[in-house]
Amino acid sequence: MKKIVCDNYEEACQAAADIFAAQLEKKPESVLGLATGSTPIGLYEEFVSRNEKGQMDFSQVRAFNLDEYYPIKANNPQSYHAFMEEHLFSKVKFASTRILNGESPDPGIECARFDAELDAAGGLDLLLLGIGQNGHVGFNEPADSYPLGSYLVHLTEDTITVNSRFCEDGENLPASAITMGMGQIFSAKKILLLITGESKAKIAKKLFEGKVFTDVSASFLLLHPDITVVLDKAAYGD
Ligand code: PGA
Repeated sequence: MKKIVCDNYEEACQAAADIFAAQLEKKPESVLGLATGSTPIGLYEEFVSRNEKGQMDFSQVRAFNLDEYYPIKANNPQSYHAFMEEHLFSKVKFASTRILNGESPDPGIECARFDAELDAAGGLDLLLLGIGQNGHVGFNEPADSYPLGSYLVHLTEDTITVNSRFCEDGENLPASAITMGMGQIFSAKKILLLITGESKAKIAKKLFEGKVFTDVSASFLLLHPDITVVLDKAAYGD
């Protein structure tokens, strides 16, 4: 595991963007895995700015997102479809984008379709991950076992509470989500885990204990052969 500790959030986003830029330089037609949440917002701003300056070209990139609430309409402001549209996809041209469909009447069929599309694309070259305060990656919530392919998962109360910070008054989040499974995450050739802010210091410390905890899905990443963790000092506990 490679670790890069940056002075602040902005520098962490730049360091993460540099890793993506190097990937696109090497392989312009990369298959990228993308994440949502507050952590990647600054990174996506960096993508938009570098794209406008002609420094990063996503036009041959096929993007697959990690997860989506279920059930949720794509035009619901809380959906990850809406998030990606707002922060990245409306501003930067991609060859294709794919997010698990929170409107599908049958999540099992939708997951199988998504998995087949990801396989057909040749798998992920570089996957961006954030981490939940409970140690989840994607929506792989603490569990005794984790499916390999994408699946419908019941969200923990903790995750719903933490993520409700984005909701307006009267808005409620769905109690479930569909997420890439640990096998898909693990089969990414390269993983970039971005951890920023004081609220992540506790889980970052646990990760750096260097042990696999079966109820912390992020800790399995310690076994991945090519993972870089980019942190700011607040998350690193400095
Ligand atoms: P956050 O979410 O970036 O909003 O902290 C990360 C996650 O829950 O995976």
